[in-house]
Amino acid sequence: MNIAILGSGFIGRFYAESLHAQRRRDRIIMVYSRKEENAKRFAADYGLSHYATMMEEAIEHPDVDVVLISLPNHLHEEAVHLCAKAKKAVICTKPLGRTAAEAMRMLKAVESAGIFAGYLEDLCYTPKFLKSLDSVKRGDVGKVLWTKSREAHSGPHSDWFWDKEKSGGGAIIDLGCHCVEISRNFIGKQIKPMEVMCWADTQVHPIEAEDHAIGLVKYANGAIGQFEVSWTFRGGMDLRDEVMGTEGTIWVNSFLRTGFEMFTTGKGNDGYVAEKAESNQGWLFPVGDEAHELGYPHMFTDMFSAMEEGREPLETFYDGYVVNAILDAAYASAESKRWETIQLTDWRGDDPEAYSQNWTSYDEMYYLIKEEILPNGDVTVILKHKETGEVTQKVTLAK
Ligand SMILES: NC(=O)c1ccc[n+]([C@@H]2O[C@H](COP(=O)([O-])OP(=O)(O)OC[C@H]3O[C@@H](n4cnc5c(N)ncnc54)[C@H](O)[C@@H]3O)[C@@H](O)[C@H]2O)c1
Repeated sequence: MNIAILGSGFIGRFYAESLHAQRRRDRIIMVYSRKEENAKRFAADYGLSHYATMMEEAIEHPDVDVVLISLPNHLHEEAVHLCAKAKKAVICTKPLGRTAAEAMRMLKAVESAGIFAGYLEDLCYTPKFLKSLDSVKRGDVGKVLWTKSREAHSGPHSDWFWDKEKSGGGAIIDLGCHCVEISRNFIGKQIKPMEVMCWADTQVHPIEAEDHAIGLVKYANGAIGQFEVSWTFRGGMDLRDEVMGTEGTIWVNSFLRTGFEMFTTGKGNDGYVAEKAESNQGWLFPVGDEAHELGYPHMFTDMFSAMEEGREPLETFYDGYVVNAILDAAYASAESKRWETIQLTDWRGDDPEAYSQNWTSYDEMYYLIKEEILPNGDVTVILKHKETGEVTQKVTLAK
């Protein structure tokens, strides 16, 4: 694939490093950046044959097969409409829109143009996430009851993130989009997210948007997806996920503790350790291959393979729209301090009424509440009578 990248900033460079790493064959051939000096520098750094200072010129270039949107949030929609007009395949960074209404307009544009569209939710492609998701899908943790996804750091690196108009919000829109989509995957994308309860506040930074939030997303089958996001966290980038199911548990630490720890006095160390690391001396927690730990290579492989195979990628514009709808409800809840309904004008999953509670039977007469081996070796079984509701226990004494 020949790729045109729009934007030459932080994520643009991460994407270019991932795409041009090792011996990958899909190449960026064109970069769009407003300022010629930035476009030229990016093109020189990654050996690109073309650069442009007009978005249309980059998108419409005849050699370009696919457009990679790496622009600030307020420019995603304009870029997607230009791709639809030029009938070019498009892959767009997160969050898809600043609101669900914006995301819906983008979804409609790509669907009516009949072009390929992929949502670049990298944290749903990390090696640890993909393996965890396989386990969940195999049933290793049973029915997923509760997921917890956390992304926290000391705040973003560019001015526009801190401007609510351009970004669409603070930590919720910037980081919550990752956490919500991680939980949706674990709980099951076909299960409708129904309501959100969210606390958000501006605790540290002098901005209009929230710099810290915690939310609960309730799904139609009773599962809960918890998100914890912060631009006030000190000590690096905390990316952790948990899955709690009826048959098991998964805990994942994707970044701050990957098993690589080192100490340096700081002598001779001149800078970068890992994304959002706040120190380069003392005990440090570097990340072996950041692009891999953050999911970029698997994400691009899925996107380009999907294009070639004529299938949908794992993360689509529709997913981006659902995420935006959940985040809209989170903002409404933070304001109202109540559970807020998620407004999904276009729901493509299961009927939300389709779920029922199934208690585990012990035998014909009883449900099993739980079984436990006590410290003295006795085994206790706690039961509930199916008709009377009486709770009793049976104890088998240790031999
Ligand atoms: N993990 C991830 O997937 C991830 C990580 C970081 C950022 N992002 C997303 O990538 C996008 C860009 O973020 P970033 O961190 O690269 O930001 P950035 O500020 O580092 O880079 C943005 C780029 O857009 C350009 N730009 C800014 N305003 C513009 C305008 N009005 N017109 C044209 N170009 C303009 C800048 O010059 C720069 O090249 C955002 O949507 C962000 O949410 C995703």
